[in-house]
Amino acid sequence: MRVIIESDALAASRRAARFIADQIRRKPDTVLGLATGSSPLETYRELIRLHQTEGLDFAQVTTFNLDEYVGLGPSHPQSYRHFMQQHLFDHVNLAPSKTHVPDGRALDFEVHCRVYEQQIRDAGGIDLQLLGIGTDGHIAFNEPGSSLGSRTRLKTLASETIRDNARFFGGEEKVPRLAVTMGVGTILESRRCLLLAFGPKKAEAVRNTVEGPITAQVTATALQLHREVVGIFDEAAARLLV
Ligand code: F6R
Repeated sequence: MRVIIESDALAASRRAARFIADQIRRKPDTVLGLATGSSPLETYRELIRLHQTEGLDFAQVTTFNLDEYVGLGPSHPQSYRHFMQQHLFDHVNLAPSKTHVPDGRALDFEVHCRVYEQQIRDAGGIDLQLLGIGTDGHIAFNEPGSSLGSRTRLKTLASETIRDNARFFGGEEKVPRLAVTMGVGTILESRRCLLLAFGPKKAEAVRNTVEGPITAQVTATALQLHREVVGIFDEAAARLLV
């Protein structure tokens, strides 16, 4: 993993946005893998700014999001589809038909997950996958114990993740227990990955991911098997790295 450490989250996010913008400029029909949560927020804000001020063109870009809560439809304020519309899709010239977020209200999740994987393949595979990391070291919703070869599927959220995300739902009891998520194997097939981590709460997960043994207990460690991962961290998240 190539590690880039910036002084703070804002500088790191701007660096990440430039990295994504370079990818889009080099390959206008880029297939981007996208994440939700607090980590990519500033990066999305900066991408919107680059679109508005420098004409960064998303017209040919296709996107696939990592995950979605089961039971939440696109109009639910905490659904990841809603998040993406609000924080990126509604502000750039992405074609709505080229944006993909797993459907939290699919009638048959087995079929839906298979189709999602097929759509990624049909698009030519993911060129650049943006990732955050959970405090327990998860990527997407691949919680501790997920197979490192896993594919898109339903996953039960770990109690640590439910606790971490309770702030968005106004209480732990309101957080959905299940999510649809790309698997670790799906993520590893992306041509390049960009991992973001900010703040002291991520320091242990970052150390485990970069320097720890590869283990299904910290699914981000599987990124050590990938040839092209860039980690952009702030100093607080990187502080336990040797
Ligand atoms: C979100 C996702 C999750 C988050 C992770 C970190 O699509 O896949 O793995 O990246 O839970 O969340 P934040 O960034 O809110 O700390």
